[in-house]
This record gives sequence, C-alpha cells and structure tokens, in this order.
Amino acid sequence: CGIVGYVGPQNALDVVLEGLRRLEYRGYDSAGVAVLAEGGQATAKRAGKLANLEKALADSPLPESTIGIGHTRWATHGGPTDRNAHPHLSADGKVAVIHNGIIENFAALRAECETAGVEFASETDTEVTAHLLAATYDATPEGPGRLAEAMRAVSRRLEGAFTLVASHADEPDTLVASRRNSPLVVGVGDGEYFLGSDVAAFIAHTRDARELGQDQVVELDRDRGLTVTDFDGTVVEPTAYTVDWDAAAAEKGGHDWFMLKEIAEQPQAVADTLLGRLGDDGQLVLDEVRLTDQDLRDIDKVFVVSCGTSFHAGLIAKYAIEHWTRIPVEVEVASEFRYRDPVLDRSTLVVVISQSGETMDTLMALRHAKDQKARVLAICNVNGSTIPRESDAVLYTHAGPEIAVASTKSFLAQIVACYLVGLFLAQIRGIKYADEVAAIVEDIRGLPQAVEQVLTQMEPVRELGRSLADADTILFLGRHVGFPVALEGALKLKELAYIHAEGFAAGELKHGPIALIDQGTPVVVVVPSPRSRESVHGKVVSNIQEVRARGARTIVIAEEGDDDVLPYADHVIRVPRTPTLLAPIVTTVPLQVLACEIADTRGYDVDQPRNLAKSVTVE
Ligand code: G6P
Repeated sequence: CGIVGYVGPQNALDVVLEGLRRLEYRGYDSAGVAVLAEGGQATAKRAGKLANLEKALADSPLPESTIGIGHTRWATHGGPTDRNAHPHLSADGKVAVIHNGIIENFAALRAECETAGVEFASETDTEVTAHLLAATYDATPEGPGRLAEAMRAVSRRLEGAFTLVASHADEPDTLVASRRNSPLVVGVGDGEYFLGSDVAAFIAHTRDARELGQDQVVELDRDRGLTVTDFDGTVVEPTAYTVDWDAAAAEKGGHDWFMLKEIAEQPQAVADTLLGRLGDDGQLVLDEVRLTDQDLRDIDKVFVVSCGTSFHAGLIAKYAIEHWTRIPVEVEVASEFRYRDPVLDRSTLVVVISQSGETMDTLMALRHAKDQKARVLAICNVNGSTIPRESDAVLYTHAGPEIAVASTKSFLAQIVACYLVGLFLAQIRGIKYADEVAAIVEDIRGLPQAVEQVLTQMEPVRELGRSLADADTILFLGRHVGFPVALEGALKLKELAYIHAEGFAAGELKHGPIALIDQGTPVVVVVPSPRSRESVHGKVVSNIQEVRARGARTIVIAEEGDDDVLPYADHVIRVPRTPTLLAPIVTTVPLQVLACEIADTRGYDVDQPRNLAKSVTVE
C-alpha cells in the first residue's frame, strides 16, 4: 500500500494527492484521504484507482486544511470497496488511521473492542487500531506528546507487520506514525514534514529524509518538530539521508506508459549499474560490505532467494555464478525458502534480490538466513530500504526509480549485478576459468550498447504484438539461460495482458507440455547463440521444428546472422551477437516490448495491471 502524510503551511490535500499519485504503483484497489479541518476529520475514500477518489473530491470538495493523510490500498483483509478503503475512523470520529501491513492479532483486538460496545464499519484489520487509539488517547493524561504516547501504547499491543499513520481531531498540529516490518520514511522541508511509504511521496518537495528503524514511533508537530522514540518512549536519533533520485525520473517524460519509458532507459540502467564497479583490476566495488574477503573465500554454497521477476534474475545468476566460480548455487522463491528448513551455515552465501528492498517474503527469508548464521548479500534498487539495511553486504542496482508495476529496467540491472557478484567471487577465489572471466569483463562493458541496438529494432515486435492480441495462450521456450528468459517472457504477458502463458525448458516440452500445441498456437522460442557449448543451439533449432510440425506459429528470437532458424520461423526477432551467459540482457527486451504492446492493444493499463502491486509488504 502507499502511505502519505503532511503537516506544514501548504494545502494538505494537494500535497497528499500528489504523493498518492506517485505512490499509486504500490497498490490501487482503493484510495482515501483525511484532513483535519473545523475541529474534526474530513474524509473521502473510493474503491478503484486514485482517479475515482479525485473525481469524488472534485464533486464534493473537502474543507481547506494544512494537515492530512492519504492511502492507496492493495487489499488484504476485506475486499476493495469504498467501506474498506483507508483512512478508518474511530467510533467518535476523532481519530483517522491509515495502515500498511497485516495485524495478525486483529480478531482478538476486534472482539475486545466489540465487547466494549464499539460497532465496526469495515471488515479490515486496520479499523481496530482507530478504535484502540481513540480509547487509549482518552486514557492518556493531557499534555504534549499525548497522541504519540497513545500510538506507542497501541503499537505495543499489535502483532504482525504495520506502518500506521494517525491524526486526532483534538490535536490539529500533530501527525504520528509507527512502524514494524513495513516501510516508512519522513521528509523534512522548510517548516513542513512529510511521511511516505517511500521517498517518491515527497520527492517533489524535499530531498532531506529520515529513516525510521524497526519498532519506532515518530511524532511530527508544528511546534515541537520531529521526535522519534522506540515503542517504550525512549528518544532515538533517526538516520538522516539525502534522496539522490531526480524527481523528473519519476515522471513519464513523453512516453505513453512508465513501462515504455523504463524499457527505453535500460541501456542507462545497465551502464549505471556497472559504473565504477569494473575497475581495471576487475575488482567489484560493493556499496556496503560487512564481509571480509576471507568470509567470501570460505563460501562453499550460494542460495539466491527472491520473488517474481527478481526470482528470474536469480535463475540466470545460477548459470553464471556456478560456471565462473564452481560454487554450487541453489535458487528459490523467497516464500518457500524458510519453510522447508534449508541447510545453511556460516559458509553459505545467501544472495537476496529485490527491486524495492521491502518485499516481505524476501525480508523474512533474509532474516531466516541470518538466524542460521549465513552471510547475506542484497542486490537492491531502493537505497536505504529494509532488505539492504539488514544484509551483511549490499550491491545497489542503479536503475533509478521504477514506477511501472511490471519490472523491466531493474530486472536487467539485477542480472548485471549478479554477473558482478559471480565475477567477484571468481576473482577472489582465483578459480580455474580465470582467462574466460577476464574476457567476459570486456563483453559486459559492451552490454549497454547491445541493449541500445535491440531497442532500435522494436517496431516489428510491436506490430507482431498487435497481431497476437487475441491469442488465448502463448508459450515460451528456452534452454540454458534462455529458460529463465522464457519464464520472464511468460510472466510479463500474464501480468500485463492477462493472457495464459507458460515458460518451459525447451527440452522438457516433449515430456508433456507439447500436448498443448494446437494449430496456430503462438510459441516464442529464445534461441541460444550458435557459439554456445554442447550444441545447445542445434537442440533448440530441433525444438522449433518439433512445435512447428504440430501446428505452432513460431516466433523466434535469434542472434544476428543465425540463419539456421529461418526455415522454421514464422517471425524472427534479431538480437546482437552476445556471449551465451550474457544473452538474457538482450533477449529479454523484445519479450518486454511484446507483452507491453499486446496489453496496450487489448486496452489494459500497462503500468498498473489488475490485482498486482509493485511492493508487496505482506507474506
Ligand atoms: C511484486 C511485483 C513484481 C516483483 C516482485 C518482487 O510481486 O508485482 O513485479 O517482481 O514483487 O519485488 P521486489 O521488489 O522484491 O523485486
């Protein structure tokens, strides 16, 4: 969910709505705002996208105010209705609360409130906090900091994950917020304060930010300023940092969709992720390292753990890291990892990959790995987010802000970061492929240019996309690193175009899925370089023939000059010659463009696909 709060001299509603617009990628099932005006809470909330709320506010405006909160929701408890949208009010109407996360003991707390005579207006877990806050506030002695004190008392009673932001009608100059396992940052302006789930909420106003730690409460008061405490009231000094993202980077800049802009930014994302990291001595520069070279030399096993598109980056990492370092690598989705009791110890390196740095499944996997004494290296795109903060070492992907829900440029940047990790480990351990590793460093330097070249050839892909818009199902095949690329191509299509899609290892097709192929079924095949080992190329060419013989319409992604595919391809998409392990950086791009075009042709919102959210902070 997206969370915004404001207290200062400006019109709060304008600031909050602008913040919500920038955070809408975090959830868009419903949206709502509350401002304090004329001695009470004035709220508006609507199911659906933010535009619905904006329309409602245009029809019946709220009174002017300089303090307010807003929320865009990704539903967990209770469907995405007007009633379940945040903010939630206490029964006396004085407290307004917005929440991100899940309150696990809400049923018991709700029963307690109901016994005390409170009637609930929604099915959410959040509403209980509004009632508890109102009652706790009333029971707290008058004086400065009363609302913050009530927030601490309520927070101590909550189990689960939460960011809560609240205001009270009797305290028109104060906002309070609390966080546990869920993101919250504070922006400090000139005589004004901002709260946001991430810095995008206030990037247009200030770059001066404060990071809140686990189990902390912040009070923002017009007179007393900013105070952060732990849940017991001990004052703590928040970490200050400067936001280095450019506000313009979070705008569409002439493209129809953020996704198209982000696809176009991929050469830069790849280049920026490499910048300063491939020294002439080939040494990798990590952003934050709390690991020694000896720690890294001692590693005898690597796990890569992540979700969604980041999981696919992990699958590609396995091929590269194992090949270059000879260390066994396992890749697993974060939501499964800790529940099967994986074998981890001091000599295990767990690489967690997360664009947002906030994905709860990944965070919980990281904590499990640390409990088991494994070393954790994070590959992340968002500076200062929770996952890098809790890891032993961090390599940031410098892809810049990614707004479209479906990940593109951060995926390419993650793959590049994985290459860097593999090369670094190979180097530090002085392994047997030393010459090959030195050569590959040169090839990696050429990747931004290669992506640039692919992007100039996308018009026929768009045209092809338009012709596929009515497909019921599209299959994707690949071998070696082309297999994860096929999975990613299928995922993009599911996410954006709501078309049934599957990615398969090309060789596994004949063991079952080939039965799906019917007359005209589109099959996209990611073909490895003809120079790849073990005649993988020839085998994939045979796989194309097999599906075509059964009626498939074949769409083939192949290297420039690879004419072996021509007799069996209904459509050929060319990519530049690239070493096998690096090929995903170029072969993924047409699949992104294809999914985007198909979704656009079908009339869908490419940036905000149904049911999804960019940063999923619940398990
Ligand atoms: C969500 C998004 C996906 C993303 C995944 C992992 O499900 O919809 O696009 O790949 O989370 O996100 P992360 O921020 O951890 O990379």
